Amino acid sequence: MNKKYIGIFDSGLGGLTTVSEVISKLPEENIVFLADTKHLPYGSKSKEEIISYTLNNIAYLRQYGLKAVVIACNTSDSNASQSAREVYDLPIFGVIAPAAKKAAETTENKKVGILATESTIRSGRYEQLIAEHNPMIKTYPMACPKLVPLIEEGTFKNDVETLKEALNEYLSPLLEEGIDTLILGCTHYDILTDLIRELCPDLKLISSSRCVVQDLEEYLEKQDLKEEGNEGKRIYLSTSDPENFTKTASYLIEGIRIEAAK
Ligand code: DGL
Repeated sequence: MNKKYIGIFDSGLGGLTTVSEVISKLPEENIVFLADTKHLPYGSKSKEEIISYTLNNIAYLRQYGLKAVVIACNTSDSNASQSAREVYDLPIFGVIAPAAKKAAETTENKKVGILATESTIRSGRYEQLIAEHNPMIKTYPMACPKLVPLIEEGTFKNDVETLKEALNEYLSPLLEEGIDTLILGCTHYDILTDLIRELCPDLKLISSSRCVVQDLEEYLEKQDLKEEGNEGKRIYLSTSDPENFTKTASYLIEGIRIEAAK
């Protein structure tokens, strides 16, 4: 086919959960991934800052020749996808709309919890999209500022107890409300899936990292842009300290090598 890349970005590790899903569903696609670790965490930044990072990330990825962009970051999607679509003439896929749709279709008791960064929660984007699907659904948003820094430190491998404590703090009020469905509204949280399942085995979990890949696949098929018979190339980049990032990233994708984004 046309050998172009799918450009994927996030502030850090979370985006790799989307990359893994793309690799498993669309193994023949070429992927270029950028982690903007220099500006991590996005979740505590202003809308203006997040727009600026997002536009810069896409501008950087564009030099590889893109057929689509996946914003593998809820914070960037909720604050900046509109600006990105205005600026770039590229198909841009966000993680929030497909996850909101899946949650609206999944909940039986019409109570959906949302774990996300402060900035995503402030945007109200999940609540808005879920209400468009079904105004009867009640949403319970919870900002989780401790989680992304803990995940980036690699605690999911070496200090699970600290993570459990933080998760309990965020999950308890939502469980008290009787939610039956929980959106992991930050791609970093996908890394905590097993831990969350352990803490609340009865909840239906919706992964914002993974739902987006179906939209991408449908688009590529419709536009006849899907790679076939190609050994998918992978390029992994970070805006700061690639060596350090390689260490934690290799917990998620074995043998991964991160290069410096110059
Ligand atoms: N992984 C990103 C998200 O989905 C945000 C992480 C951050 O705060 O930098 O929102």
